[in-house]
Amino acid sequence: MHSPSPLPLVDLPVRRLTRGDLVSCADLSEDRGWPRDEHRWGLLLSAGTGYGIAEPDGRGLVAACVVMPYGPRLATVGMLLVAGRHARQGIARRLMRHVMEEAGPTPLALYATPEGQPLYEKLGFAHVGGAQRVLGRFRAGDGAAAAPDPAVATRPAAADDLQAMVRLDLPVFGIDRTHLIARLPAFSDRLQVAEENGELTGYAALWPSGEAHVVGPLVARDTATAKALVTALAATTDRPLRTDVDARHEELLGWLVERGLEPGSRTSVMTYGIDDLPGDASRRFAPLTIATG
Ligand SMILES: CC(C)(COP(=O)(O)OP(=O)(O)OC[C@H]1O[C@@H](n2cnc3c(N)ncnc32)[C@H](O)[C@@H]1OP(=O)(O)O)[C@@H](O)C(=O)NCCC(=O)NCCS
Repeated sequence: MHSPSPLPLVDLPVRRLTRGDLVSCADLSEDRGWPRDEHRWGLLLSAGTGYGIAEPDGRGLVAACVVMPYGPRLATVGMLLVAGRHARQGIARRLMRHVMEEAGPTPLALYATPEGQPLYEKLGFAHVGGAQRVLGRFRAGDGAAAAPDPAVATRPAAADDLQAMVRLDLPVFGIDRTHLIARLPAFSDRLQVAEENGELTGYAALWPSGEAHVVGPLVARDTATAKALVTALAATTDRPLRTDVDARHEELLGWLVERGLEPGSRTSVMTYGIDDLPGDASRRFAPLTIATG
């Protein structure tokens, strides 16, 4: 009698991930040179649906990804990672096919790294935009020219701002994302709102990732408001800042670079089953994370 030969990895079952998989997910991130980001994985696995393929010996994961549902009109896919030791064996394709089957008719969107783009193109995703990562130490500068626009007032968000943030966000993201916005006070180290005549005109969160602090989401009426929110958040941390700015917002990007941040990787916004992201890109400066949109 001999034991049956083990299944090729690509035939192993895909299973749902739970918060119990947090450390294995963080191990995968680290394996690919990303920050471990257990904090971000925690948010994604509680607000979204994680899928993964476990190592045959049960120790850790071969691959993972997260789907963030936004009702029947959209779901986003993020954190697609395959352990380097198992690369180029069709595992990412397998996991994506599974995600697409589960999504059924729901359109999908994602931010693709250069490594992920060929796979998504082969699966039928189309390029509809881009995001530019910038990172580094933010210099507030000195002198009047460096100060944020005095006409834009910002302040830390209070518990009773949440309703107004959800209302402001709806036309900007294009779909209700209360399930994520409601988690921002616990997830973020700082949540800031911009206000004019008692009306919110923008909001932004600051959350920890590795050695950095990430600004996102960044939703604002205009670039001056976005700058004021970033300046206020940057003043609350000594860590380097990171954000993924919608590539259309060149003025904000140029200003962030003037303020000391450096351009990093660029991701491509890709969609499947929908021509473009819903909502109002002119007020959508940065996503919460590139895994959620
Ligand atoms: C991108 C990634 C998930 C691909 O995983 P994988 O299991 O190696 O991919 P697959 O074997 O399923 O490859 C499917 C197709 O993707 C393309 N592809 C995969 N890796 C690629 C690479 N490094 N460069 C170019 N194309 C690549 C190829 O077209 C491949 O088809 P082929 O093997 O027939 O040529 C993996 O490289 C990874 O984890 N990278 C780091 C994290 C990341 O960037 N994730 C994407 C987030 S959007």
